[in-house]
Amino acid sequence: MSDELLLHAQGLNKQFGAVVAAQDVNLRVKTGERVSLIGSNGAGKTTFVNMITGYVRADSGSIWLGGTDIGRMNPRQITRMGVARSFQIPQLYPSMTVLENMLVALACHENRLSTWLPAATSARVSRADEVLSRFNLLKHRDRLVSELPGGLRKLIDIALAMTGAPRLLLLDEPTSGVAQKKNFP
Ligand SMILES: Nc1ncnc2c1ncn2[C@@H]1O[C@H](COP(=O)(O)OP(=O)(O)OP(=O)(O)O)[C@@H](O)[C@H]1O
Ligand SMILES: [Mg+2]
Repeated sequence: MSDELLLHAQGLNKQFGAVVAAQDVNLRVKTGERVSLIGSNGAGKTTFVNMITGYVRADSGSIWLGGTDIGRMNPRQITRMGVARSFQIPQLYPSMTVLENMLVALACHENRLSTWLPAATSARVSRADEVLSRFNLLKHRDRLVSELPGGLRKLIDIALAMTGAPRLLLLDEPTSGVAQKKNFP
């Protein structure tokens, strides 16, 4: 861990109607540091991840990544700043294979996404294989996502987030539904 301050969230507040989802939330994360947020159902964990990644705009407060104010940026801009996330409910294309999902993520990082399935260039496939192997997912790469159990989908969602080699990775409930042992079919 370095002394460099990577994320600095200060005084974040968010209300949905009468529901207070975040109240004066402050968090500092240094480069290389791992931080866990623990809270009961409805405590505001997902809201926090959504505010940092631009999916939800905080009512007040500030969010700094390194020396840049990202508090008013949209999710795409924040992704380009090197922030990645996974979702509590994995956001995958179920009718596509694991590799095809990876190709879409890689093409997004190249800013080359179209309505067509991105070409399986050797550079993309090799990067996809590299990331999938880190998650022990290589053997599933040609399977349809719709055939896979929830725990594997969760890991694939995290692998997708890793395709861009992010500076900051936010994982929303990364272990729920994931088996502790590698006993996947
Ligand atoms: N888009 C929304 N519209 C209205 N209320 C919302 C919205 N998003 C979250 N909330 C409310 O804000 C509060 C915090 O929700 P949030 O999903 O952030 O909690 P959480 O800690 O992630 O919960 P869980 O452990 O169930 O995932 C809850 O009361 C929730 O119902
Ligand atoms: Mg949540």
